[in-house]
Amino acid sequence: MSDIRIHPVPDGFAANALIDADQYKAMYQRSVEDPEGFWSEQAEQFLTWFSPWDKTLEWDYHKAHIRWFEGGRLNACYNCLDRHLESRGEQTALIWEGDDPNIDKTLTYRELHAAVCRFANALKSRGVKKGDRVCIYMPMIPEACIAMLACARIGAVHSVVFGGFSPESLKDRILDSDCRVLITADEGVRGGRQVPLKANADKALQSCPDVHTVFTVKRTGGEVEWNPNRDVWYHEEVAEASTDCPAEEMDAEDPLFILYTSGSTGKPKGVLHTTGGYLLFAAITHKYTFDYHDGDVYWCTADVGWITGHSYIVYGPLANGAISLVFEGVPTWPDASRFWQVVDKHQVNTFYTAPTAIRALMREGEAPVKQTTRSSLKLLGTVGEPINPEAWEWYYRVVGDERCPIVDTWWQTETGGHMITSLPGAIPMKPGSATRPFFGVVPGIVDNEGKLMEGECEGSLVITRPWPGQMRTVYGDHQRFIDTYFKAFPGYYFSGDGARRDADGDYWITGRVDDVLNVSGHRLGTAEVESALVLHKAVAEAAVVGYPHDVKGQGIYAYVTLVKDIDPSDELRQELVDLVREEIGPIAKPDVIQWAPALPKTRSGKIMRRILRKIAANELDSLGDTSTLADPGVVGELTENRANR
Ligand code: WT7
Repeated sequence: MSDIRIHPVPDGFAANALIDADQYKAMYQRSVEDPEGFWSEQAEQFLTWFSPWDKTLEWDYHKAHIRWFEGGRLNACYNCLDRHLESRGEQTALIWEGDDPNIDKTLTYRELHAAVCRFANALKSRGVKKGDRVCIYMPMIPEACIAMLACARIGAVHSVVFGGFSPESLKDRILDSDCRVLITADEGVRGGRQVPLKANADKALQSCPDVHTVFTVKRTGGEVEWNPNRDVWYHEEVAEASTDCPAEEMDAEDPLFILYTSGSTGKPKGVLHTTGGYLLFAAITHKYTFDYHDGDVYWCTADVGWITGHSYIVYGPLANGAISLVFEGVPTWPDASRFWQVVDKHQVNTFYTAPTAIRALMREGEAPVKQTTRSSLKLLGTVGEPINPEAWEWYYRVVGDERCPIVDTWWQTETGGHMITSLPGAIPMKPGSATRPFFGVVPGIVDNEGKLMEGECEGSLVITRPWPGQMRTVYGDHQRFIDTYFKAFPGYYFSGDGARRDADGDYWITGRVDDVLNVSGHRLGTAEVESALVLHKAVAEAAVVGYPHDVKGQGIYAYVTLVKDIDPSDELRQELVDLVREEIGPIAKPDVIQWAPALPKTRSGKIMRRILRKIAANELDSLGDTSTLADPGVVGELTENRANR
């Protein structure tokens, strides 16, 4: 702790900031002393309502019952587009930067509105109605945002599936939420390479007989197979469609979208967000965390397949009338200066990315950064995992030239928006700490008995009362919502993360305390990877843990026990890696596979992952107590043959 450097808010930034230290204190205090009053005011200020709500908040954390602004009527798409037309119809809404540095395009609010209305009408003409679920499996092109907004416009519930997921994962998600319509593209393009989205979709849909329509955007013109009973071209369907499409009046608690995320057990959960609370929380956090001023060019490098893309490429920025940059490519293509070239090209003011990208670029040295000016930058942000102080300092010094504050934003798919983050004009920065709670957020740290601790402490991170952006249920399985988040520490929302609070009251996220991995800022359940591995007929058993990885944050380490009489081989190792890739997607590929004649288990048969994590991390001196193992000899075998990396 002693060598932690505290960085004050840079003077140049403080002069123009929306919120200073005193304002933060006063507003935070008000937000927790009178949450309903505070959030009512914000809801009126940030959103346009067709009619007011009956009740600001209703909640019961034992039943996981959470309702904000019920009875209020609004439409998320209307709030993101229509209401801006008069004041900023000709202002840019989206800047699209293609994978190829020579290709880009902008859409004004008026153009985006027209495109969304056309596609919304196309959806309607194919039978999509309010409440229907629509799956979106797209590359990072404007049509991905258009599709989301078009669904919101007609009250359909979108479920975006990241374009890097496999046909198998796509199929599971389509079936779980019973989507009948899919929107995809012929191919995606990333880092100069094609991603066969339509072909993947075709494969997934072999097991989804209820999907009656597939809209395909022509991105590359690459060859695709065509099912004339089901497939339609996006450009043909919108060509004839009218730009007149009234926005459906929705209740604040009507679902806006489902987004799947991994948990510690079983299949990914469909996190359900509703309309009013989510949109308000996305908008207010976008404004204050990023100190958003009118005219700022704002760039979040996430993919719309993740919550970061939902809240901070589409809904938050557009609700605020911002200019949001959508990037199709990757940080290192054509070379490692791409991010900074795009910053200069489009005069980006706010830049938001993940620690894993910063670490990957840090390896390439300062030259690729220093060949650009980055003079437009005012603010930097990170999200997805704890940022190590070395990467933080590099980002601050090399990228931001010590002019730009860094906001380290802790939040989750489940929280809808930022929960713990410094506000850039108000809170001094501590590299590696997400610092303070956002307005209306009351975090707590509990011990193993579920008792809230005071002052300096370390334990499990909970949130003690609801905020508007909180998820409302697991789609189709409310009991799973209760069991996952409200059982471990009754009366509180349990995040699954550990945290420490320091003497100043700042929060430090220490990482997941459950069996969830964080690989390059992406969440993966160890159980999912294990289920994929055991599909191979040569595998008897598999146990997966995370280990520290220089770039990814966590790497995937798999211990595999083969069935009797099968010998390990490099070919088999490759088959297993390929299998996981096919089952889940490239992000889930194990970095290390160690053959394990047996796994360390307790007498009741439970795998002792604590020991496996230590071996994977090469912390062989601190394996801890192994006396409760059924066969302590197993550990010696595993440590001796620990995979060389
Ligand atoms: C998990 C949520 C929410 C956006 C992206 C990931 C970890 C996220 C931070 C941060 C430390 C972080 C947590 C959390 N996480 N941001 N700033 N510092 N850890 O969303 O896939 O729902 O993952 O990411 O472990 O629980 P997600």
